[in-house]
Amino acid sequence: MESLPTPTKLYPYPNGWYVICKQDELKPGQIIDKKFAGKDIIIFRTEGGKAAATDAYCPHMGAHFAHGGKVQGETIECPFHFFCFDTEGTCTKTGYGTKVPPKAILKTHHLRERNGFILVWHDAKDNAPEWEVPEVSNEGWTEIMTTDFKLRSHPQETTENAVDLGHFAVVHEYTDIEVLREAKVDGPYLNAVYAFSRKAPMGWGKDLRAEIELHAHGLGYSFVEVILPKLGVRSRQYVFPMPVDGEHINLKIGMSIQPIENPGKINPLLALVPKKIITWFALRQGI
Ligand code: FES
Repeated sequence: MESLPTPTKLYPYPNGWYVICKQDELKPGQIIDKKFAGKDIIIFRTEGGKAAATDAYCPHMGAHFAHGGKVQGETIECPFHFFCFDTEGTCTKTGYGTKVPPKAILKTHHLRERNGFILVWHDAKDNAPEWEVPEVSNEGWTEIMTTDFKLRSHPQETTENAVDLGHFAVVHEYTDIEVLREAKVDGPYLNAVYAFSRKAPMGWGKDLRAEIELHAHGLGYSFVEVILPKLGVRSRQYVFPMPVDGEHINLKIGMSIQPIENPGKINPLLALVPKKIITWFALRQGI
C-alpha cells in the first residue's frame, strides 16, 4: 500500500515571513538572487535605498535580472531588452523608447526590513501578509553575528526544536529543566519561558543556570532571550529557517549579546581584562 505523504511534503512552504539576508548585505544598486519557497526571486535596493523583492525572470521574454541586470535609479533594468521596472513592478520604459506593453508587469513580493534583516512573505494562495514580525530594538546589543547552514529539513522542525523539552537533557545535557511559563500561542506568535542548568565554557565557572524566553513569529522568525542571572549576562539567539525547494532549508543562526559590564562576576581574574574583549569572546563562544 502506498504510504501517505508526510505533512512536510504536503506543506513544504508554510505561509509566513522568512529572512532572506541581513539588511546591510543589500547595498544600494545591488541585486541578490535566491531560490525561496520553490520560486526564483531577486531582491534589489534602489539608488535611493528602497529594497524590493520580485520574480527573478522578466515578464517580457524571461531574462534573469541577476544575470546582467542593473539597478537604474529607482528601477531595475532587464539585461535583455533593457526594460525598466519600478519597485511596484510597473514597467517604466523599454530599451528602445517605445510605448510600454500593458502586460509587462513584474511580479513583486511583500518585503520588510526588520531588526537588521530583510524578510519576504510567502503565501500559498498569494494572499497579502496577515501579520507582521514586530520591531525589537537592538540598541544596547552587539551586532548580530550570523552563520548559514543548508540542511535537508523543514522550517517546522527547526522552530519546534525550541519547545522540544525532551531533547534538552539528552542532546544538550541540560539539567534541572523547569517550565517557568507554559508555551502559549496567539495567532502566529508562540511564547514560552524555560530555565535549565548547563555546562559552562572554560573559565566561566561551574554549571550555569540559564533562563530563556522564546519568541516565535510563524515558522520563519524566532529568537530566544537568554539570561544568565548569576553572571548578569544577556544574549539573543536567532533561528531563521528559509524554505528553499521543498526538501532543503537555509538555516541562518544569529547571536548578539549585551556588553558585559562586570566580567569579575564570571571569574575574578577576568576583572582585569578589558570589557570589550570579554564581550567579543562571549559572543564567539555562544554564551
Ligand atoms: S526579456 Fe527583459 S526586457 Fe526583454
